[in-house]
Amino acid sequence: MGVCILSLLLGEMTGTAQTFNAASDLTVETNRKGASIQSTMYGIFFEDINFGADGGLYAELIKNRSFEFDHAFTGWTLFGDVTVQTKNPCFDRNPRYARLVHRNMLTGTGLENEGFKGIGIKAGEKYDFSLYARTVKNSPVKLRLELVNSKNDIFETKELTIEGNGWRKFNVVLTPGQTEVKSRLRLTMLTEGAIDVDHISLFPQQTFNNRSNGMRADLAQALKDLKPGVFRFPGGCIVEGTNLATRYQWKNTIGPVENRPVNINRWNYTFAYKKFSDYYQSYGLGFFEYFQLSEDIGAEPLPVLNCGLSCQYENSDPKQNCPVDELQPYIDDALDLIEFANGPATSKWGKIRSEMGHPAPFNLKMIAVGNEQWGTLYTERLEPFVKAIRAKYPEMKIIGGAGPQAEGEDFDFLWPEMKRIKVDLVDEHYYRSPEWFLSNASRYDSYDRKGPKVFAGEYACHAPNRENSFLSALAEAAFMTGLERNADVVHLCTYAPLFAHVDAWQWRPDLIWFDNLTHVKTPNYYVQQLYGHNAGTDVLPLTANGKPVAGQNGLYATAAADNNDEIIIKVVNTGIDQKKIKLSLNGLTNAKHNATVTCLLSSNLEARNTIQDSDEVIPQVSSLEFQGPLMEVTLAPLSFTVYRINR
Ligand code: AHR
Repeated sequence: MGVCILSLLLGEMTGTAQTFNAASDLTVETNRKGASIQSTMYGIFFEDINFGADGGLYAELIKNRSFEFDHAFTGWTLFGDVTVQTKNPCFDRNPRYARLVHRNMLTGTGLENEGFKGIGIKAGEKYDFSLYARTVKNSPVKLRLELVNSKNDIFETKELTIEGNGWRKFNVVLTPGQTEVKSRLRLTMLTEGAIDVDHISLFPQQTFNNRSNGMRADLAQALKDLKPGVFRFPGGCIVEGTNLATRYQWKNTIGPVENRPVNINRWNYTFAYKKFSDYYQSYGLGFFEYFQLSEDIGAEPLPVLNCGLSCQYENSDPKQNCPVDELQPYIDDALDLIEFANGPATSKWGKIRSEMGHPAPFNLKMIAVGNEQWGTLYTERLEPFVKAIRAKYPEMKIIGGAGPQAEGEDFDFLWPEMKRIKVDLVDEHYYRSPEWFLSNASRYDSYDRKGPKVFAGEYACHAPNRENSFLSALAEAAFMTGLERNADVVHLCTYAPLFAHVDAWQWRPDLIWFDNLTHVKTPNYYVQQLYGHNAGTDVLPLTANGKPVAGQNGLYATAAADNNDEIIIKVVNTGIDQKKIKLSLNGLTNAKHNATVTCLLSSNLEARNTIQDSDEVIPQVSSLEFQGPLMEVTLAPLSFTVYRINR
């Protein structure tokens, strides 16, 4: 199979090859700085798909903690007398709660949560258990909490007494001594009586940056380690939902987590062959947490908002869309979000941000309207958004979309429309084959330099089996040389999707895979990381025989200056032969220079890191010394190499 894919790649190479003289090799003009490379250039795209938020990045371990899924007890196993109630609720927007009545010592009464494909517990870590509860008859009720592993053994026990007939929060810290990837949380009544319980939560104390209601530490750290310049959120199709009723509404995602109304996740049912009836959005990772995480990982936030359209893939009925003359609430959502992010703590929405713990503005600079929309349905809605945002926030960069495809009728209609509407950037999406990625490395060489800039907002190379693989990573690395070379046109790019739970995914490939305890970085992740860490500040001309290097002889290359200190050269060799290359670094002195060399390579194009074998393809770092201005290097077969050269 490996050979087959290899020959496919080679076929592509020989099919399009314009070979250049190995002797002439590559020339870099090290003193001729071209376009600035935006600090936001390489970023991340987050969508709650593949259990990326609940069950993933958001550190909550209990599924359906407030009994608000369509079936109140999804994720719970009940024993004894347990019913769902809504009278005098604890939270008005999440009104359901569970009533537990214990009158029979033989059966007992209680409930057990399965987490998200199990609950991941680490020995030695502390976990905050909490619930809201009241007694029904005002007599105290003792509860036992237990962590139960997949063999049904109890490995942690604590007790708790519920007292008082008014709603109150109760907390207990669990300190398990065992590591379990798939455990369950059990609550059992020890005293006869009746209690009401709601918002049952189990949270690791150790979250990323120790934030309360925070993110899973290892996953958020993996994001930070990419050095992302920009952070797109919350999607993706989830922005549209399936219809307007299920669209993403940011105002439902702020304020106390207990009162954020739950919404079905569209990836619950989008693919019939990948049905996950337990997939909902708790919005525990809401817009406040998103802005805060952006700040914590050093990325500029880039929210995407619904433009008043239902998902166009799922709905052909125009009644499913908001009429243009009734768009104001949607436009207000955009304006209010900007105020929530940037407004003074005295403004209506800025005050909520401040009360949530962030008095200072988040300094939001850009906003996207619409995800994958097309036709006049989209443009006639986008226009009033642009008008209103420009009028109130003239500094805000506005991003429109070019539809779901990288070319074709909708794309050809939308680009001129985006110019007419004068958006600042246009969001392009492409999930394409390795061949497409390789042959599109010159895509932006001929783009209009005067129009809106490009945001490659969703892209990933899809090999035929849709697995993450070294082949797809190499094709992405090659393609990205074209993004960097055209940094005057391309200002942002974000690979998609970001996360996938190994037991609960709907879409692949994805950048980071995880189970309940650990994660694995794909070869594609390392490509993104190498670009993120070696973005540079200004494009430098890199040519072979006077032309950009975009596939000739199987090579793809780009060069950048990092301020005035370093020269960064990225070279992808898609051939199976090693190549000796002479790099003429014009402008560099003839003194000795050092370079750090980071190389991602594999002879197996199907290589993909897994949880069990996480380092099959990882970057290798070495160094070299050379006498300027000529640097001679040997490129390994099937490799992506980054040279950082001291001036
Ligand atoms: O990234 C997965 C999906 O691909 C996104 O939700 C959507 O925008 C695109 O079709």
